[in-house]
Amino acid sequence: MSFPYQIQSFDHYLTEYKKSIDHPEKFWGEVAEHFVWKKKWDKVLEWNFKEPRVRWFEGAKLNITENCLDRHLADKADQPAIIWEPNDPTLPNRILNYRDLHGEVCRFVEVLKNNGVKKGDRVCIYMPMVPELAIAVLSCARMGAIHSVVFGGFSAQSIADRIEDAQCRIVITADGGNRGPKDIPLKATIDEALTKTSRIQKVIVFKHLGNTVNMQAGRDVWWQDEAKKITSTDSRAESMDAEDILFILYTSGSTGKPKGVVHTCAGYMIYTTYTFVNVFQYKPGDIYFCTADVGWITGHSYTIYGPLSAGATTVMFEGIPTYPDAGRFWNIIDKYGVNIFYTAPTAIRSLMGFGTDPLKDKKLESLRVLGTVGEPINVEAWHWYDEHIGRGRCPIVDTWWQTETAGIMISNLAGISQGKPSYATLPLPGVIPLLVDEKGLPVAGSDAGKDGVFHPGAKGEPVSGNLCIRFPWPSIIRTTYGDHERCRLNYFATYPDLYFTGDGAFRDAEGNYRITGRVDDVLNVSGHRIGTAEVENAINMYPDVVESAVVGYPHDIKGQGIYAYVILQSGHANQGGEKEGVSKMVNKVIGAIAKPDKIQFVSGLPKTRSGKIMRRILRKIAEGEMDNLGDISTLTDPGVVEEIKAGRL
Ligand code: WTA
Repeated sequence: MSFPYQIQSFDHYLTEYKKSIDHPEKFWGEVAEHFVWKKKWDKVLEWNFKEPRVRWFEGAKLNITENCLDRHLADKADQPAIIWEPNDPTLPNRILNYRDLHGEVCRFVEVLKNNGVKKGDRVCIYMPMVPELAIAVLSCARMGAIHSVVFGGFSAQSIADRIEDAQCRIVITADGGNRGPKDIPLKATIDEALTKTSRIQKVIVFKHLGNTVNMQAGRDVWWQDEAKKITSTDSRAESMDAEDILFILYTSGSTGKPKGVVHTCAGYMIYTTYTFVNVFQYKPGDIYFCTADVGWITGHSYTIYGPLSAGATTVMFEGIPTYPDAGRFWNIIDKYGVNIFYTAPTAIRSLMGFGTDPLKDKKLESLRVLGTVGEPINVEAWHWYDEHIGRGRCPIVDTWWQTETAGIMISNLAGISQGKPSYATLPLPGVIPLLVDEKGLPVAGSDAGKDGVFHPGAKGEPVSGNLCIRFPWPSIIRTTYGDHERCRLNYFATYPDLYFTGDGAFRDAEGNYRITGRVDDVLNVSGHRIGTAEVENAINMYPDVVESAVVGYPHDIKGQGIYAYVILQSGHANQGGEKEGVSKMVNKVIGAIAKPDKIQFVSGLPKTRSGKIMRRILRKIAEGEMDNLGDISTLTDPGVVEEIKAGRL
């Protein structure tokens, strides 16, 4: 057995869970023994949720890339580490084995150093899904620079904001990327972003498409030219403290601009590897394909770090599921003999819409495990996935987690614990969920054990509440970059001594959790997190807009769609392209993923006497639940509700 910490049976899971609760330090200390350290820890865990302050493996020294690369050279040097599938299936793919990947990372570390990057510097990465994206990420980690990957769909303004917030001095990008039939002009977007911030001294550009791009002398250099200059590499990896920052990843919250979630080296490494091996029940030699872009946390943890740390072969796909046709994912699975496939419910729902024709010539025999992530999966999509992709013989792991948790928190373990359609099911070892009411009290009937923990395998009353976590796991968020107070307020202040997830959940009598969705003002559109406040700010930047309110509504494919109520200075009719203008503004300020699906111009918004917008009412109208608006008598102008109802799109 190559992973001594791999769970073997349901009973084994129950005992491991209990051990992780009774003796967390012993439990994680034992898991950590199976990793490569430059120096072992003095103390496994020190924590309080008040500040918050969480330190895992204090005193240890390591480099995560020695775990992801060097340690595999002895026995897996020739095994593919990354299989890259291009957007255009007629173009050649690329396969980098562990030796290649190690060599490329060592070389790019020298490129970064030659370009002035030092340990602790923040590096903004804005790249398409090519192996060089993984190389850039791992090279930062290897030399101790902090990567801040920005998803290739974000706008120039969003990039500039993130560069400013993290005070990056260098950007790594590409001339462009492909997404289906479209070329994405990444370098041009960076050029525009750099007109809005003056922090960047160097831009390293990977030539991917071969397009002509503007290269500013003294600032912009080609990746390939820089790499050619390297004649020898220092293969030593920087010695990092366990709690040194590994990366920053921006994510949306209910207020203000996206915040930079900070993760640190040791705990992140241990938890992503542990969960990868256990949730998917990875077996050495498996081909693993996660469809998430590295611009999101799923791509960080389960396209790059987790699988590579476990010595797996990870498939990186540049394109989209519907190009050149809706059978593309299934082609890739057959082409490489993929054993474990991990995607988002929104992709499944959109592919369901094409029926089973694209599946006719697909074998899908290699598949053993299926997974979903990012949003609740509806029962219908779950069954379609099970029947048509898994052919009824592959467990589906429904994995609930967040950017802030960095790794999977609640999920069935493939073939070990039972899946249940639309349920993320049971907590991973080390994770203690708690459902609380508005006041932060554990919901009645929670039937916890003597230790206050509802242990998997126990029976209890079905209950609902706000989902909190009571105890730190190794990859819990450490801070929000540059603003620790914001981290405290967002996650640790709603309920004292608890980490609050922002999600609501239901727990059935068997202890299975079903995530019911966000209880704050965060939307989940096609598995992407978007704050309503962020979208409102963008809309309000359109010159003619006085005020706006954004809510989510159920959308067949995206899960949630974006519904915007907008007050214009010039009245509430769409006179000359205001809708288009508002939509373009959102595209410009945030990116296409945040464009409203519906824009309704209104003359006013329902407000309380203290001036607060009654979002509950707006949400209900957007959802079409017009007869059930609750008490509207406290509004300053109840009449506006009738107008909004009448104009509903
Ligand atoms: C939602 C993505 C239901 C949830 C890894 C969470 C889910 C937010 C699931 C985090 C799931 C994620 N079932 N809902 N299996 N997985 N979510 O930070 O609302 O992009 O809070 O991390 O997605 O989104 P994020």
